[in-house]
Amino acid sequence: MSITTQTITRLKGQRPIVAVTAYDAPMAGYADAAGVDLILVGDSVGTTQLGFESTVPVTLDMMVHHTAAVARAKPKALLVADVPFAIAHDDFTVLLEACRRLMQEGGAEAIKIEGDATMAPTLERLTRAGIPVLGHIGLLPQNFHQLGGYRKFGRKKSEQAQLVADALAFEAANCFAVLCEMTDAIATAAITAALKVPLIGIGSGVDCDGQILVSNDLLGLNAGYVPTFVKQYAKLGEAARNAFAAYADDVRNRKFPS
Ligand code: KIV
Repeated sequence: MSITTQTITRLKGQRPIVAVTAYDAPMAGYADAAGVDLILVGDSVGTTQLGFESTVPVTLDMMVHHTAAVARAKPKALLVADVPFAIAHDDFTVLLEACRRLMQEGGAEAIKIEGDATMAPTLERLTRAGIPVLGHIGLLPQNFHQLGGYRKFGRKKSEQAQLVADALAFEAANCFAVLCEMTDAIATAAITAALKVPLIGIGSGVDCDGQILVSNDLLGLNAGYVPTFVKQYAKLGEAARNAFAAYADDVRNRKFPS
């Protein structure tokens, strides 16, 4: 049975939600066959697949293209797509058109938007228009050039209170779940306790209702930097390098084709 936004919301207090990113049909197929609950076509496609330094250069066309590829795997998992840089802050009709494209052309079943409590009225308009929204708080990678680097959020009491307020505002805007990135463990626990909808964490410790990881990180498929909170369940990058080297060796030594 396919997983819906309602399924995800109801999982709070039942069992931890398992979420990963995917950017193409084969990877979505592998994750779905493993029984994950939610697949996010994150704008991390920019850094993991497209060679950008941040998610800022990722465009709506790129997101629609990769979301449609993931949708072709026909996952049972809930398919969520990221609204890319700046669009959520544009005129509401521009944002609505972006969501329409991600859902109608890309096949997404929900969209994710980065922001804080000030974004809640916009998210409420979207949910009233029938667009399921996953709100993203804490570290907002689309603010890369403003942040000047990635850091933990919610270490200070004032930041903790702000994060709880952001999450509650998103819940009041009818988000079916909230995602928190790089929030301090104490802040994470406080947000989880305050929310009726699930909190899905990345780099935010154990006290969430679920976890999400970037698939390239968990598979060991990264060209360079791996965040310290990541657990690598495979070393596919190393396996690929070895396979290319063995192939090159065989061709040069006339062992392939045999
Ligand atoms: O784009 C992305 O992959 C994300 C992750 C932090 C979950 O937003």
